[in-house]
Amino acid sequence: MFGRRSWAKAAVAAVAAATMMLSACGGREATETDPGGEATAGGFETGSLIGVSLPQKTSENWVLAESLFNDGLTEAGYEADVQFANSGASEQQNQIQSMITKGAKVIIVGAVDGSQLGAQVQQAKDAGITVIAYDRLLLNTAAVDYYVAFDPYKVGELQGQALLDGLAERKGEAPYNIELIAGSPDDANTANFFNGAMSVLQPKIDDGTLEIPSGQVAMDQVATQGWKAENVQRRMDTILSGNYSGDTTLDGVLSPNDTLARAALTSAASAGADTPVVTGQDSEVESVKSILDGEQYMTIYKDTRELVNQSIAMVDALQTGAEPEINDTESYDNGAKVVPAYNLEPVVVTEANAREVYADDPILQSELG
Ligand code: BGC
Repeated sequence: MFGRRSWAKAAVAAVAAATMMLSACGGREATETDPGGEATAGGFETGSLIGVSLPQKTSENWVLAESLFNDGLTEAGYEADVQFANSGASEQQNQIQSMITKGAKVIIVGAVDGSQLGAQVQQAKDAGITVIAYDRLLLNTAAVDYYVAFDPYKVGELQGQALLDGLAERKGEAPYNIELIAGSPDDANTANFFNGAMSVLQPKIDDGTLEIPSGQVAMDQVATQGWKAENVQRRMDTILSGNYSGDTTLDGVLSPNDTLARAALTSAASAGADTPVVTGQDSEVESVKSILDGEQYMTIYKDTRELVNQSIAMVDALQTGAEPEINDTESYDNGAKVVPAYNLEPVVVTEANAREVYADDPILQSELG
């Protein structure tokens, strides 16, 4: 049930070790000497407009992406138009439409709701614009050309495994009481984070290692509208007061990201519970501090610089009329096509390896001292 990506018919992420090139015209694999026919004929002027449409600022990675895209695209000689869709999907639809009107050559989209932009990306495609899905896949449209991401299903698997590791490390013998949190239901990544984690946790629920005292396991029970911390805090407060008393202690929480992890920890603390093992994602400064203080158990490092640089490298290739580098042609069936992707490796971070993992990250280095 949880064994595959929610949008994918292909079950397994086969991340080819070797970099492959793919022709944009037919999915045909190409070689350096035969880079794919017509696809290389294009290209556009240096100095062209590149649109970047980001969702709401629901976590630090999006805020960081804004400045990295502005600086990186400008340094590479493009005109950057980086915008947030703070009020949601319809604002993002309008933004993309206006980027098309302004003559963007490439539009990079981190979708609020990956299923709500089909008409806009089709218009972009019709206008000869290349569309790159950034971090979140665009669903049910053939008009998306590429996807750049840290595989969300893999992120979920890592979170699920880390939760089990943390419980064994900090909470003694099984069984353990846990609660489940998922992200915002409109985010295309949400089901993949959750399903990836549940592919690891479900067998342990089935064999009695894990118990879920609230009984809340369905997506409509565990999802967090808008990725908002206050929604998690309210839900966890209710769960703790209704299901935990006496010998029933909360041992762990599956949380899909750091913002929600901190909300779960706050709720547990205000209920007077011992610190549960809580997972996260994004390596947000406050969460990394919490990990180093022995509170939040883990996070995931998805280096935003890598994600942005890889997207800009795609733009550079397109500018010269070449095919962008991709390394995955199988995993991301969005319902209309298998989207060629550049897949990056997420890294698990706990107290044990945090300083080592962040050694080259200037922001985390300066915050952690
Ligand atoms: C991103 C996460 C982020 C979440 C909330 C997801 O789509 O992949 O990194 O924590 O959105 O902003």
